[in-house]
Amino acid sequence: MTDNAWKRLEDAPARSLKELFEAEPDRLDRLAIEEGGIFFDFSRTHLSRALIEDFLALADQAGLAARRDAMFAGEIVNPTEGRAAGHTAERGQGAPESVAAAAGLHARMRALIDAIEAEAFGPVRHILHLGIGGSALGPKLLIDALGRRAGRYEAAIVSNVDGAALEEALAGFDPHATLLVIASKTFTTVETMLNARSALRWLEEAGVDDPYGRTIALTAAPDKAIEFGVDETRILPFAETVGGRYSLWSSIGFPAALALGWDAFESLLEGAAAMDRHFRFAPLEANAPVLAAFVDRYYANIRGAETRALFAYDERLRLLPAYLQQLEMESNGKGVGLDDAPAGRATAPVVWGGVGTDAQHAVFQLLHQGTHLIPAEFVAAVEAEHGLADEHHAQLLTNCFAQGAALMAGRESDDPHRAYPGDRPSTTILLDGLEPARLGALLAFYEHRTFANAALLGINPFDQFGVELGKEMARALDGEGEIAFDPSTEALLARAFGDDEP
Ligand code: F6P
Repeated sequence: MTDNAWKRLEDAPARSLKELFEAEPDRLDRLAIEEGGIFFDFSRTHLSRALIEDFLALADQAGLAARRDAMFAGEIVNPTEGRAAGHTAERGQGAPESVAAAAGLHARMRALIDAIEAEAFGPVRHILHLGIGGSALGPKLLIDALGRRAGRYEAAIVSNVDGAALEEALAGFDPHATLLVIASKTFTTVETMLNARSALRWLEEAGVDDPYGRTIALTAAPDKAIEFGVDETRILPFAETVGGRYSLWSSIGFPAALALGWDAFESLLEGAAAMDRHFRFAPLEANAPVLAAFVDRYYANIRGAETRALFAYDERLRLLPAYLQQLEMESNGKGVGLDDAPAGRATAPVVWGGVGTDAQHAVFQLLHQGTHLIPAEFVAAVEAEHGLADEHHAQLLTNCFAQGAALMAGRESDDPHRAYPGDRPSTTILLDGLEPARLGALLAFYEHRTFANAALLGINPFDQFGVELGKEMARALDGEGEIAFDPSTEALLARAFGDDEP
C-alpha cells in the first residue's frame, strides 16, 4: 500500500545541500526544531520541502500517526509477542491503568532507596549492578553521563560473562559495603545468572552474613527471582510490556536513581515525558523524531547509505553510541514486515560512532573523502560541567560545528588528493546543558525516532527474535541441547577444550 509513496520518493530529483540552501531561504526555520532545551538541526540534510511532502504522504499511507496513538493508548503494537509497549507509561504517558501501575512500582522503588539511604541494609558505599543488553546499557549511560559529580555511591555495571569484567569490578569494592543488584527482565539470561552466582559467592567467601539479604532484583519475572533466592521485599518488578532496551525508566534504572538521587531520576522521567508529548501532539512536519526518521529513511532507502554515524561531542555522552546501537539495531534490524512478508527494503542501518574530537583524528578521513555515503549526527551541549578553562569547551563546540560545515561545503582543488567533494549530510543536536531532564528528553527522542522509522517501514520494533538462535546454540555447545555443529565449530571446541569439551 505504501508503494506509491516510496515510488514518488525514489523518483524525486536529487539536489545538493548548497542548492537546497539557495532555493529554500527559510530552510533553517523549518528544519530546526527546538524542544525542551534541545535544538535539532536537520537543515544540513537533503530533506527538501518537496521530499517532506512525499514523506508525509508515506507516513499517512503507513499509518504512522495511528500506530503512535495506538502505542500511547496501550494497544498491542508488538503483535508477534502479543504485547503493548509500556515504556512511555513509566514516565506517566500512556494508558491510565499502565501509568497508575508504573507509578505504584516507582513508589516502591523510591521506598527501597530511602531504606538504603537510611542504612537499613547496613553501610552501603558500592553498588554492583549485574545485567546485560537493555538491563545494563541504560543505567550505565545514565550514571556515566550524570553521576560524575554525584559522589553518593560508587557503582559498577557488569554485563559481560567474561570473568575478567566481574573480577575487575570486585577488586575495588568492599564486600561488607556492597549492594548486589541483579537486573534481568526475564531472570533467565545466562550471563547475568552466572555473574550473580559468582558475586554471591564473593560476598559469602568474604564473610558477609547474609549475602541474599544485600541482594536486590530488578525484573519482570518476580517468581523467577524468588526461585533464585531473592526475598520478595527486595524485588523491584516492572511490567512485561516494557522492552529491555526501553527499560531504563523502570526499576532497571534503580542503580541510577540510587547513585544520582531520586530527584534526578524524577527529572529524567519528566524530560522524557515532555518529549513524549511533543511526539504525540506536534504536527508531523514539525516533529523532531518524525523528521529524524524521514532523514534516516531518505539516506537508507533512497540514497543507499548502509550506516549512520553518531559522534558525541561531550565526554559525558561517550556511551551514547553503544546505547543507541542496541536501541536501533535490536529494534529495527528486521527483515520481515508486520504483514509477515519480507520487508522489501533496507531497515535499520548499522549504527556506529564515537566521541568528538577523538573521532576526528581516527575515522573522519573516511567521512570527508571516502567512498561511502555516511549521514553523520553530532550531539553536543552548550554548557560544560568541568572546572577547567572555558577554552576547552569552546574548542570542543567549534570543532563539532566545523565538521558539519566542512562535510557540507567541501573544497575544490586542482590536486585530487586535496579536494573534498562536500555535499555530505549531517544532523546536529545541541542541548542547552546535560541536566537529567534534557538527557531524558534526548533518549525519548531516540526511542520515538526508532518507532517512527519502524512505522514507515511497516516492521515491529519491539521484538528481538534475532538474538535467540545464537543463544540456543551457545546453550547447546554448553551441553544443554542437541545441535549438530559444522566442522569449523567442532575444531574450535576441540582446540579450546580438548577432551573436556563442555
Ligand atoms: O539478548 C538480547 C536481550 O534479550 C535484550 O533484548 C535484553 O535487553 C537482554 O537480552 C537482556 O535480557 P534480560 O533483561 O532478560 O536479562
